[in-house]
Amino acid sequence: MKTVLITGANRGLGLEFTRQYADAGWQVIACCRQPQEAQALNQLATDHKLIRVMSLDVTDHPQIKSLSAELRNTVIDVLIANAAVYGDRSSFGGIDYQAWRNTMETNVFSALKLAESFARHLALSEQGIFVAISSLMGSMADNGSGGSYLYRSSKAALNAVMKSLSYDFARQGTGVIIFHPGWVRTDMGGPNGLIDADESIAGMRQCIEQFELAQTACFIKYDGTPMPW
Ligand SMILES: NC(=O)c1ccc[n+]([C@@H]2O[C@H](COP(=O)([O-])OP(=O)(O)OC[C@H]3O[C@@H](n4cnc5c(N)ncnc54)[C@H](OP(=O)(O)O)[C@@H]3O)[C@@H](O)[C@H]2O)c1
Repeated sequence: MKTVLITGANRGLGLEFTRQYADAGWQVIACCRQPQEAQALNQLATDHKLIRVMSLDVTDHPQIKSLSAELRNTVIDVLIANAAVYGDRSSFGGIDYQAWRNTMETNVFSALKLAESFARHLALSEQGIFVAISSLMGSMADNGSGGSYLYRSSKAALNAVMKSLSYDFARQGTGVIIFHPGWVRTDMGGPNGLIDADESIAGMRQCIEQFELAQTACFIKYDGTPMPW
């Protein structure tokens, strides 16, 4: 049986990843920062014995390390760094720099800390894959409207970090995929999104399933289309 670890599993894309992987017979380590309040996830875990709900605030590095230690004998086939915040929506002239620091902590530093802390668990897999849920908003080439300084810069930085990580991980045979999940109707994506979470997740799961190490550090949309850097 394969195992996936997912951050931010209590709502949005993380919850749908959890649902679909559990339906497919995977063991799911579903992490969220407030398990006692994660009603939808807890309900899913009641229905699916393959889901283990675990507490993790991705900005809390000691908590990441202790989760890694607690799972020290677990082979992790796929780790999905999904948790993120949009950050402050203020514009030029009124940037909230503390909110920017928090956005970088949540969207960027956490991903590398997870990779460092779970490298061994991924190395134990026949084909370990580290998945970063990024965004087309992190693309330089695609930025035709400006604004969204916090979110755009965090996803651009995440992409740069994942590219470097792919070289370190290649030495142990672990792959890296960077996804744009599409514009999805979630709390973050809002009601005007173009697709629902089930379509986005089904597409990303298929890309993960078909992944080969030669593709490592690919920046792709949920349907496998290459995205501009
Ligand atoms: N929806 C879109 O259109 C879209 C487009 C491009 C990229 N993305 C990316 O897709 C991913 C998922 O987005 P979404 O649409 O599902 O967003 P969402 O509905 O806002 O969910 C965000 C998730 O991240 C969690 N989270 C935030 N900060 C956390 C922290 N410090 N520790 C642990 N968990 C934390 C949230 O947990 P709480 O409930 O505790 O806050 C929640 O589970 C993100 O990386 C996002 O940037 C989304």
